[in-house]
Amino acid sequence: TLTKLSPNSLFGMGNPLLDISAVVDKDFLEKYGLKANDQILAEDKHKALFEEIFKFKVEYHAGGSTQNSIKVAQWMIQEPQKVCTFFGCIGEDKFGEILKQKAEEVHVDAHYYEQTEEPTGTCAVCITGDNRSMVANLAAANYYKKDKHLDLKENWKLVEKAKVFYIAGFFLTVSLESILKVAKHASENNKLFTLNLSAPFICQYFKDALMEVMPYVDVLFGNETEAATFSKEQGFETEDIKEIARKAQTLPKVNKKRLRIVVFTQGKDETIMTKGGDKLETFQVLQIEQKDIVDTNGAGDAFVGGFLSELVQDKTLEQCVKAGHYAANVTIRQTGCTFPHKPDFH
Ligand code: AP5
Ligand code: NA
Repeated sequence: TLTKLSPNSLFGMGNPLLDISAVVDKDFLEKYGLKANDQILAEDKHKALFEEIFKFKVEYHAGGSTQNSIKVAQWMIQEPQKVCTFFGCIGEDKFGEILKQKAEEVHVDAHYYEQTEEPTGTCAVCITGDNRSMVANLAAANYYKKDKHLDLKENWKLVEKAKVFYIAGFFLTVSLESILKVAKHASENNKLFTLNLSAPFICQYFKDALMEVMPYVDVLFGNETEAATFSKEQGFETEDIKEIARKAQTLPKVNKKRLRIVVFTQGKDETIMTKGGDKLETFQVLQIEQKDIVDTNGAGDAFVGGFLSELVQDKTLEQCVKAGHYAANVTIRQTGCTFPHKPDFH
């Protein structure tokens, strides 16, 4: 029996970014002090990067980690439309219009806080071979304000309608108070609050904010490098990903009615999921031939989107992981975090 889905059941809040991706060269990475494979926030020294990248051939994609996952979830669900809500801050400009239009195309119920002081955020995706270095210039995304948007009656109503919440760790750099308000609402009402470690720099430099939210987290997502950094920062003293998952699962939790679930993906290698107590399960990913991989950008976000699309329908955790693997497999066959007209997942 299918749970009938109501609009706004799945809520996401994060940084709406327009991705500007280009195949660059080593000199370019060196000039801006970028590692081949990394995710960072733009600093002053990266200002010129956002102009110089246009000397290469660029592609634009609607991005932002949470927004990617929320769109994938709605795509997996298809009907009814607007099961997924998204909040974030953009500027009143061309890039903002593109983001709005892309969200509308996939029937996400996006409610942006639009302001005129800052332009819509961008993310430079600097590709060299199989690696990509991302530099996020949050701009408007950094101006999301609890009192100017989340607290508004008509917006908070959408939060109250949701039963599953997802926020990427990236948003910890923007509005911890907004995250905590949503997380506490979930916990107090025995709803599901889910979070992503998102990037090593979040586990490292935003550790205090991360650990303020952790007691409310029902499902924690991450990949293997984020798990390793998290373990190091928390003094877990282990590099074994299964051990890290177990330790993250037993961190203090406010809502005792639910055990925390920890899900770590590892690219082409098996996904790991804790199931409470000492129980832990591993899942093979869907095989794909190297020649069919177009762009793994957004694979992790797509995995989360697929997972959430089943979670919000009260499916088993095994089914959630399967849907995650399916969605990730689809998006790595396409550029950016994009997908074909309809899913083929049963
Ligand atoms: P990006 O980091 O590309 O997206 P991602 O979803 O994290 O993709 P990764 O390729 O890093 O995947 P992963 O390591 O998380 O997952 P895994 O490899 O385990 O970033 C995307 C977005 O981030 C951009 O749009 C950008 O806007 C945004 N962003 C950057 N900075 C931001 C900021 N400050 N704030 C907000 N947004 C920001 O793979 C997951 C699954 O995929 C696997 O389980 C498997 O099923 C499948 N898979 C992956 N690789 C393979 C393979 N080789 N073979 C088979 N299956 C595979
Ligand atoms: Na892709």
